[in-house]
Amino acid sequence: MAQRESWATRAGFILAAVGSAVGLGNIWRFPYQVGEYGGAAFLVVYLLLILGIGFPVILVEFVVGRHTERNPVGALKRIGTGVWTKIGWVFVTAGFIILSYYSVVAGWTVRYVLLGLQGQYTADGAAEQFVGIASGLDAVVFHAIFMVAVIAIVAFGIERGIELSVKVMVPAIIALLVGLAIYAFTLEGAGEAYAYYLSPDFGAIASNWTSILPAAAAQAFFTLSLGMGVMITYASYLGEDRNLAEDAGIIAFLDTGIAFTAGLIAFPILFTAGIPAGESGPALIFISLAAAFAELPFGGVLGAIFFAVVSIAALSSAISIMEVVTSYLIDEHGIGRVPATAMLGTAMFVVGVPAALDIIFIDVYDLFANGVLLVLGGLLLSIFIGWVIPDLALDELGKGISNIGSLGVAWIWLLRIPVIIALVAVVALNAWDYYGF
Ligand code: PFF
Ligand code: NA
Repeated sequence: MAQRESWATRAGFILAAVGSAVGLGNIWRFPYQVGEYGGAAFLVVYLLLILGIGFPVILVEFVVGRHTERNPVGALKRIGTGVWTKIGWVFVTAGFIILSYYSVVAGWTVRYVLLGLQGQYTADGAAEQFVGIASGLDAVVFHAIFMVAVIAIVAFGIERGIELSVKVMVPAIIALLVGLAIYAFTLEGAGEAYAYYLSPDFGAIASNWTSILPAAAAQAFFTLSLGMGVMITYASYLGEDRNLAEDAGIIAFLDTGIAFTAGLIAFPILFTAGIPAGESGPALIFISLAAAFAELPFGGVLGAIFFAVVSIAALSSAISIMEVVTSYLIDEHGIGRVPATAMLGTAMFVVGVPAALDIIFIDVYDLFANGVLLVLGGLLLSIFIGWVIPDLALDELGKGISNIGSLGVAWIWLLRIPVIIALVAVVALNAWDYYGF
């Protein structure tokens, strides 16, 4: 059997993980969640959860991946016993479902790049325009185009496909977003927008915590690419023992910074165009923001740049999900990389077609995969690491860290109690919310 692939450089691994983290979650999902859950109140809860839950769970996935050098299913087969050997499946299933609709939404973003270049954003007709683009043949075609791009990159492998592409994509995303934030700062509505975005209403947190908490936790998981084995898989290609805590810190910091920056772009544009930020839901960047671009000078070109950033960010995330399922087929079934990606891309395309034909399926897939499966996978893995194999995990984490002592103890105890309580609460509240039981 051929030798397993690996990253060529440390930067390659970090950029790939940042590329996975930074995506639609930051630029599409984050601003509308902030809008929906009352602005800065959501932001505060979210930041606490990134630190208290996101960071420790990234480390869990890293440790499992580096230790086993396997995809999530194979990894849990190696270190798990009894039922624990099965939890890898939760990850791979979540990844499969998520990519199938993630690609549909990514297809819309590509379509919006073209609209901007053609000067076709409209203030009055934005909602009808979105409906036409989001569902139907157009959506299916752009879903297909996006999936082909994903297949093409992942088929080239870790070093020549994923690593090479993220070295271009991630710096481009950061540079363009910073440029757009500076532009947004010059707009008339910026002051009012910052006030909305940045002053938390603690009363709102106290009275709405049963909806803010699970929403913020689901967002924290989604945005850090947790719960579908991306970080397990990417860490499985690490040859050397380096400081995983440092890498996790860089990833969480950049991901949070970019989501925050997306808000600094979206809200000033919306306020300047006089479009309400709350309650637009998933259509926020597509309807509200596109309408706002229609009102601004050079809005077509600016909008095209904005949506190009979103498309690139979506691509660098989508390849990571594809790699999870691809590595499963390679490791466990000995299938070649090229046929594996082609088969998976086709299957995910087909599963995504209903979502491209009717937007309601996006919500259905998102609620199940994102609201339940992701968090469930993270919860089960945290219980397993924290309670069943803490010594092995500590030993693995310690390999690249010269003095792990209190950091290690804090990590295990965070996993054992607070992370587990929070994630159980989230699964329960989400299930309550979505399914009414
Ligand atoms: N972290 C990505 C984002 O914020 O858009 C979404 C994502 C990518 C989720 C990859 C899951 C994943 F495996
Ligand atoms: Na993200």
